[in-house]
Amino acid sequence: MAKERFSRIGFILAAAGAAVGLGNIWKFPYITGIYGGGAFVAVYLITVLLIGFSLLAGEMLVGYKGGKDAVSSFEIAAPEGKKGWKFAGFMLFSGLVIMTFYSVVIGWIFHYIYLAFTGALPTDIESAKATFDTLTSSAPLTATAWHLLSVLFVAFVLLRGIKGGIEKTNLILMPALMLILAGLTLYAMRFDGFTKALHFLFAPDWSKINSEAIVRAVGHAFFTLSIGIGTMVTYAASMSHKQSVFKAAFWVTLLDTLIALTAGVMLYSFIFQFGENPGQGPGLVFKTMPVVLAQLGTTGAVIGAVFFIALAFAGLTSAISLTEPAVEYFIQRFHWSRAKSVTINSTLYFIVGVGAILSYTKAYGDIFSIGSKPLFDALEFSTDSILLPLGGLAIALFVGYALPAKERDALVKHQAAPWLYRAWLFSLRYIAPLGILFMMLNNFGIIKV
Ligand code: PFF
Repeated sequence: MAKERFSRIGFILAAAGAAVGLGNIWKFPYITGIYGGGAFVAVYLITVLLIGFSLLAGEMLVGYKGGKDAVSSFEIAAPEGKKGWKFAGFMLFSGLVIMTFYSVVIGWIFHYIYLAFTGALPTDIESAKATFDTLTSSAPLTATAWHLLSVLFVAFVLLRGIKGGIEKTNLILMPALMLILAGLTLYAMRFDGFTKALHFLFAPDWSKINSEAIVRAVGHAFFTLSIGIGTMVTYAASMSHKQSVFKAAFWVTLLDTLIALTAGVMLYSFIFQFGENPGQGPGLVFKTMPVVLAQLGTTGAVIGAVFFIALAFAGLTSAISLTEPAVEYFIQRFHWSRAKSVTINSTLYFIVGVGAILSYTKAYGDIFSIGSKPLFDALEFSTDSILLPLGGLAIALFVGYALPAKERDALVKHQAAPWLYRAWLFSLRYIAPLGILFMMLNNFGIIKV
């Protein structure tokens, strides 16, 4: 059977669907709130520009050259004598690790959609806290049921393959997500809070920045662009060779960044309009948004439903891309059928996800913890702070140094202006490795700025 390939727009939307996720709409606004706004956003934007884009194009190049699952693509692209690079492809398992908690959060969102449709979204801050805390710490069965629904949705799409499943889902969900966000932002423009939001996000107050904020901003840039877990290798393996890696990476970076900034401006317009505090952490969209929206009566209820639906769309398209690299790996390397690969991988992360859910409960928290961290937080920390940066480093070193220059140039040099091509290589060889090293050393407290 000939290999299924994405159409041009299908590839860009699938890669953008991977990038645009909970990271953009749930995480970006709340960590920006914790770290004080504009300066944090500036560090994030600089990282995206100087490192993120280059790694994204680099990761796509590996799949473009290899044409297979992440492990085989690294192996094929590596020169003779350096085939050990195939182990870099094992970064694809980070996707499954991320899915163990990512799918749980999508489950929370499903629960909020259900609350919105039954008119049961909380209306004051006390009940908002109680609703969220009950769901996360004392209703593991409810949380597990919603987590299962998310696992099943993702499995259903993946079973239908590249074109009929992944491309088709993204062609529907991504434009829908963009329309919803644009509509909500237009609505928010009428508020005084809109100007305050712009000021909060775009006027940097550098006194608020410290080394922890920098590390989180760099880490977020990786997470949001889906770099370092083999998704872009796997997807690019099915892109058309007439398509430019640089153009695709440019569009994905642009869409991802615009959507994060738009979501930030929109959310903060609502939050400032009703005088709420931005630095509330992960509960921002779950605890603060419903309360803020409740002040808008029926309109608020409709906006709430639409907002959580958009959040679910963003999460689901990313979840698909987090799982596909592992699915493809077992199909290609072990000749499993798609059905077998999807079933086994989904079951695996579903089970660990239940552990993550239990780790937040009072009854089982002690059992499901690693050191002093609940399993949920340990899984998140291990991906954000260890696995993704390592994956990014591998890509930078592989494309920057190991891939023979002749081959690399023959493949993609003609796709970029000469200055861009030189800047791209400089970024992969020097800026990205140093930036990642700085971030990791900082994370483990070895250096502090
Ligand atoms: N980029 C996604 C987000 O911002 O939510 C998360 C993610 C998806 C990371 C896919 C990595 C990935 F391969």
